[in-house]
Amino acid sequence: DAESMQDRFEASFDIGAAVELYQLEGEHGEILKHHYGSVVAENVMKPLYIQPEEGEFYWDEADQLVAFANEHDLELRYHTLIWHSQVPEWFFIDEEGNEMVDEEDPDQQEANKELLLERLETHVGTVVERYKDDIDAWDVVNEVIDDEGGLRESEWYQITGDEYIKRAFHTAREYGGEDAKLFINDYNTEINPKRDDLYALVEELLDEGVPIDGIGHQSHIQLDWPTLEEIEESIRLFDGLGLETHITELDVSLYGYPPTPAFDTYADIPDEAFEVQAERYHQLFTLYESLDEMITNVTFWGIADDHTWLDDRAEEFNDGIGKDAPFVFDVDKNVKPAYWAMMSDE
Ligand code: XIL
Repeated sequence: DAESMQDRFEASFDIGAAVELYQLEGEHGEILKHHYGSVVAENVMKPLYIQPEEGEFYWDEADQLVAFANEHDLELRYHTLIWHSQVPEWFFIDEEGNEMVDEEDPDQQEANKELLLERLETHVGTVVERYKDDIDAWDVVNEVIDDEGGLRESEWYQITGDEYIKRAFHTAREYGGEDAKLFINDYNTEINPKRDDLYALVEELLDEGVPIDGIGHQSHIQLDWPTLEEIEESIRLFDGLGLETHITELDVSLYGYPPTPAFDTYADIPDEAFEVQAERYHQLFTLYESLDEMITNVTFWGIADDHTWLDDRAEEFNDGIGKDAPFVFDVDKNVKPAYWAMMSDE
């Protein structure tokens, strides 16, 4: 067996992977147990899966991941309590069956806001109470800042303003206790205006006593974007607020965005692309290690190149055909040049 990634970086941070349940078994499961010290659900803990209908909580799949993490002594991140995506519509439908975002009467708007915040509290409180002894870090809110800066104009925002963010953190603290580690998670945290607006939001919330313990940098990155300097600057910036740093969804796409042209199949990807990617991984982990006073967890958004959400993008922008290859294990689950590069300490 190739040396365990978790062992290699043990002194610095945990190495994690996002998983679907089928990956707890077979070859993925073996890699997971050998190389990783932390897991997160790629989907099954999102609100759409946990509470598909109001009051009907569905725990089966989340429980399976919790059991696996406990059995194999892995850290477990919870992703995600609140998000604008993969959230069931019922949250935003009022008691008359109308969409809350369309409401024009100020009194009814106020009532809707209260109702939505109650629903949020029930969701967050119920989940945190159930899993508080199992979860090492919670993504409390995900992607609340818009790409153009400012708060994302999600349904949550349109109905409650920024109150949903505050209520989510306060409720997680209330039910999870002082030991619960509460994270705010986002992508493109290296890029302005988003970076500075996220920073300003967190600073303001902390000033108001909102309990935020950590920043999750998703880190869906590309071969040459963002720059290493931008990545380092952002990590240092948020660390300056006293937050713990997690890299929560690392993948290194071979493409820009949109990914045009994408390679049709894995076999079409030239070795040279894998070499460039390896160098990127080397630089990245050298940087992470140099910042290990700040970073406590580095989680990949998948295990091996056979299963990555990035394929959806490659396909979407290339007439339904395209393959990405963002990880350090290939489609056959063998180590890639990127693996040797990230493990090297030269
Ligand atoms: C993605 C999953 O990987 C896909 O399987 C799913 O279809 C959509 O969501 N940012 C996040 C993650 O915070 O939850 C997303 O996960 C990827 C982008």
